[in-house]
Amino acid sequence: MNRILANSTLRRSVINSGRTMAAEKLLVSVSVHDFENFTMRRRRMMSSSSAAEPTTSKAPSVKAHEEKKEEKKKEVFSYWGISRSKITREDGTEWPWNCFMPWDTYQSNLSIDLSKHHVPKNFTDKFAYRTVKLLRIPTDVFFQRRYGCRAMMLETVAAVPGMVGGMLLHLRSLRKFQQSGGWIKALLEEAENERMHLMTMVELVKPKWYERLLVLTVQGVFFNAFFVIYMVSPKLAHRIVGYLEEEAVHSYTEFLKDIESGAIENVAAPAIAIDYWRLPKDATLKDVITVIRADEAHHRDVNHFASDIHFQGKELREAPAPVGYH
Ligand SMILES: [Fe+2]
Ligand SMILES: [Fe+2]
Repeated sequence: MNRILANSTLRRSVINSGRTMAAEKLLVSVSVHDFENFTMRRRRMMSSSSAAEPTTSKAPSVKAHEEKKEEKKKEVFSYWGISRSKITREDGTEWPWNCFMPWDTYQSNLSIDLSKHHVPKNFTDKFAYRTVKLLRIPTDVFFQRRYGCRAMMLETVAAVPGMVGGMLLHLRSLRKFQQSGGWIKALLEEAENERMHLMTMVELVKPKWYERLLVLTVQGVFFNAFFVIYMVSPKLAHRIVGYLEEEAVHSYTEFLKDIESGAIENVAAPAIAIDYWRLPKDATLKDVITVIRADEAHHRDVNHFASDIHFQGKELREAPAPVGYH
């Protein structure tokens, strides 16, 4: 009885395995058949599409790319449910910038005295003044009267001191459990303002690969050098920046002269500049350079003031910081 049962079980399993193998063979043959059909269809499609316009063949991929981008956007906006409330300009139109908000914008004070100069009085002042004058020589040789390029490159340097000074004061405030008197904010505001100058200039001048390389090198050297100078002598560091800003006022005045003479085309102002400085919609490059020059004059005052406080043997926090000074 047991042998009969065992034989029938064995027979069933042989039949089943035979069926399975047959089914597998069928699947493989179907798959091979389908694959060959697919390959042939694909070849036909490719030969016909090669004759067609490239734009029609790219259209689905472009659409897919755009859909992917939209999906990514949605992912970014939905992360942790954080979303930005609708921000508008004064005229009700939608605010287009994420990098700054309407409350960061301002109307430049153009009545500032552009000719002010701090006469070097002592060794530190003279050292700072001569250092800046020395730094101007390679700048003049390299850029000559290419003021667009010159301004763009110099703004990459100008945005460093405020950040270094602000960062060091921030760390000092933490170490000493002391208020900064608003100076951290004032110096970081300066760095941000200089960075906005750069963001404006790159809309007008596209940096070349060797200029980007130069920025990398100069930033590496200047950041570290300024960091050490600020640690050793903040009064020297602020005086150097004060003189650098005097040079910046001079450079932008020359820039304006070239716009007025027609040597540089007075193109329309970039949209970012119109919103940041609350300029009229038909503003031009001349208007932009005029407000940037006024900013540099304000930075000149802030830094000479900071240096003077140190010269009086006081700390910055003892004098009111010029927060929001434009
Ligand atoms: Fe600047
Ligand atoms: Fe500046």
